[in-house]
Amino acid sequence: MIAYFNGNFLRKEEISISPDDRGFLFSDGVYEVVRAYGGKPFRMAEHMDRLARSLRETRIDFPGVAELAVAGAKLIARNGLEAVDSILYFQVTRGVAPRKHTFPDPPVSATTMILLSQAPSSVEMREKGVGAILVPEFRWSRCDIKAIGLMGSVLAVQQAKEKGAEEAIFVRDGVVTEGTHTNVLAVFNGHILTHPLGNFILPGVTRGVILDICSKIGITCKEQTFRAEELKRASEIIISGTNKEITPVVRLDGRPVGTGAPGPVTRRLQEAYSELVRG
Ligand SMILES: Cc1ncc(COP(=O)(O)O)c(C=O)c1O
Repeated sequence: MIAYFNGNFLRKEEISISPDDRGFLFSDGVYEVVRAYGGKPFRMAEHMDRLARSLRETRIDFPGVAELAVAGAKLIARNGLEAVDSILYFQVTRGVAPRKHTFPDPPVSATTMILLSQAPSSVEMREKGVGAILVPEFRWSRCDIKAIGLMGSVLAVQQAKEKGAEEAIFVRDGVVTEGTHTNVLAVFNGHILTHPLGNFILPGVTRGVILDICSKIGITCKEQTFRAEELKRASEIIISGTNKEITPVVRLDGRPVGTGAPGPVTRRLQEAYSELVRG
């Protein structure tokens, strides 16, 4: 696979990362994941806006986000993946400098990388639904930044896997926030609730698309918190994300959600989403 590294296109195996890279040493970097449907990146502008925001919030000096978007689109063609679904992974770190916690002084150039892979099929998960578990929030308080330091998410989702589930959903002070790599939406009496934007969740691009779809097709979706006990009584639960798209959660902590099968609100959203991305 051809990748992109610090301005150059090269074979992925040829990339060499310095041991002094702050991404490697401190997880001092940010990332984005964009899905391309049939070679066309979906919501690239929104993802790049979020990348620019993550860079601003972490004070990583990298002015070339627009160029990265162009390079990402080029990678798809260079790898001949125009006809299939693929995943673009963008990463920007604060660069290479001797190990010291404070920002490099004098400043150094950011390290940039884009990787491409073929998208794994999400059909089965979307059709049948998945299990999820609730876990206490033990990440940091800036979940709005798409930071590469993902130890909290790694540990939580591994716990889910070991319990036969697909996703771990974080609960902060009793309130449901989001999954390790997804936003969470729950259906109560036909209406959807999802955690409001702020520093406790990532402003998911897919979440934003779902809010737009809801207003177009007349489903009420409120950005309002709900508690873990309430989630257990939801008729439907959805996890949303670039990789998971719109995936129903049919088991929570081993118990069925609603009827134990994907519900009607989820199906309507999936249909509308599919028309949008593939139509
Ligand atoms: C913590 C977290 N929340 C939500 C999401 C969903 O965001 P998006 O829909 O932009 O992929 C992700 C995606 O990776 C994530 O890591």
